[in-house]
Amino acid sequence: MQDFWTEKFFPKGAEEFIGNTEIVEKSFEWAKKWAKGSGQPPLLFWGQSGAGKTCLAYLIARQFNWGIVELNGSMLRSKEVIERVAGAALQSASITGSKRLLLLDEVDALTRNDRGGAKAILSVIKESRNPVVITANDIFSNRDISQLRFVCRAFEFKKINYLSIAKRLREILELEKIPFDEDAVKELAQNSSGDMRSALLDLQTLSLSKNISMQDVASLSPRERQQKVFSVMKAIFKGTDFAQVREARSQSDLSNDMLFNWVEENIPRQYSSANDVALAFDRLSRADVFNGRIFNKQHWGFLRYSTELAAEGVALSKSSVSNDFVMYQFPGLLSMLSRTSSLRALKRELGSKIGAKTHSSSREVVSNDLPFFKMVFADKKKAVGCTALFGLTEKEVAFLLDTKPETKKVQSIMEESQKIIDERARPKRFFYGPVQEEDLQGPLHEEPGEGPESREAGDTDLREEEKGKQTRLF
Ligand SMILES: Nc1ncnc2c1ncn2[C@@H]1O[C@H](COP(=O)(O)OP(=O)(O)O)[C@@H](O)[C@H]1O
Ligand SMILES: [Mg+2]
Repeated sequence: MQDFWTEKFFPKGAEEFIGNTEIVEKSFEWAKKWAKGSGQPPLLFWGQSGAGKTCLAYLIARQFNWGIVELNGSMLRSKEVIERVAGAALQSASITGSKRLLLLDEVDALTRNDRGGAKAILSVIKESRNPVVITANDIFSNRDISQLRFVCRAFEFKKINYLSIAKRLREILELEKIPFDEDAVKELAQNSSGDMRSALLDLQTLSLSKNISMQDVASLSPRERQQKVFSVMKAIFKGTDFAQVREARSQSDLSNDMLFNWVEENIPRQYSSANDVALAFDRLSRADVFNGRIFNKQHWGFLRYSTELAAEGVALSKSSVSNDFVMYQFPGLLSMLSRTSSLRALKRELGSKIGAKTHSSSREVVSNDLPFFKMVFADKKKAVGCTALFGLTEKEVAFLLDTKPETKKVQSIMEESQKIIDERARPKRFFYGPVQEEDLQGPLHEEPGEGPESREAGDTDLREEEKGKQTRLF
């Protein structure tokens, strides 16, 4: 088999890495300090998938000639593996005396139940004598993982600009001597939504046709997606066998939202008997009750029941199967909702970030507290404090200020809050790296009464630390 283009065109060095340039620069500075023997806190790369989080970790190791020890997937679930492998990697130099970089890849694969793994990560990295890079797509999925922000230098990877992606894709096509249409490559880059991995894999698929045209690109995703939806709809509205419907539904990676909207739109079109329609809607409404609980209480375990009711439940609502051909209809509501869904998602995310600190549910925050926070944000100092405390994004800050993310006001709040976050994440000297000369001078213990900052060496209760800092922000 041919190599995947993600491997074949893996950047050879930082100069071939596109996007997120500031993160690249800062990470290399970080590595330089390590190379000079000055211990640094781990890096936490999070955000956009396919933007090069794992890739950058490898580039750093390569540049500094460090070995790399990588833990990912199920290995991260096991406290024992983390303690054994990561613990050993962090404490010792390799045989040649050079450093090793420990890469904990995709730590958000840990679910809320994997507390052992997340805790073990937190405790192992604290004693690190070697550089550590941690990557995650979403750091807010798990409370322990989100705590990593406070012991790491956190960098959020943003979408890669599609023009930069397009430029790189053109270079690759030229190397491969494949003729292409400029606009087609631009379109492909745009469709990848800032994800270089998906751009490269799409490009490789199209490269088989020996000439990349607009038509090829158009044929890629939407059609595939539509076919997927149609086959699930067919299984639901024509099928009568629970297991077969389930199989069709789980084979497609149709999201719960999409499934729900498509089924809702099509029940009255596909079922003709009033009883069938009533029963189907009854099951769908039960699915919706579960959806409500999932959003409000974040009980993701209910997703299983919700999808099962919306698919298998609706399928088994019919008394007989009609042989009439009725075209499946694209949900009308969906196009309306998709316009407002990003705003709803933003409010929900904002609600859950604030709620996590104020001990209220996302829904309570959205309905009761957002107007209050909008008022608080009128005061810049408080806005900066809140942004750092809740870990808000540009978009969320812009929403609270009723303005656009690119405005100076938002940018300056983001910068100042980042300073607070960096300050919080600054390493405590006794945790990292070999002892420096200046460590041996001065008092052994900090003077008492230094406020929330002062704590005993070895105190590992991050929540306590966090609590102390909260009070300082306002
Ligand atoms: N910024 C980038 N510049 C160049 N190639 C990239 C970049 N980001 C990702 N890639 C390519 O995409 C592949 C997947 O990237 P990866 O680092 O695994 O993404 P992430 O870890 O952020 O999900 C890499 O093997 C590399 O070929
Ligand atoms: Mg990765």
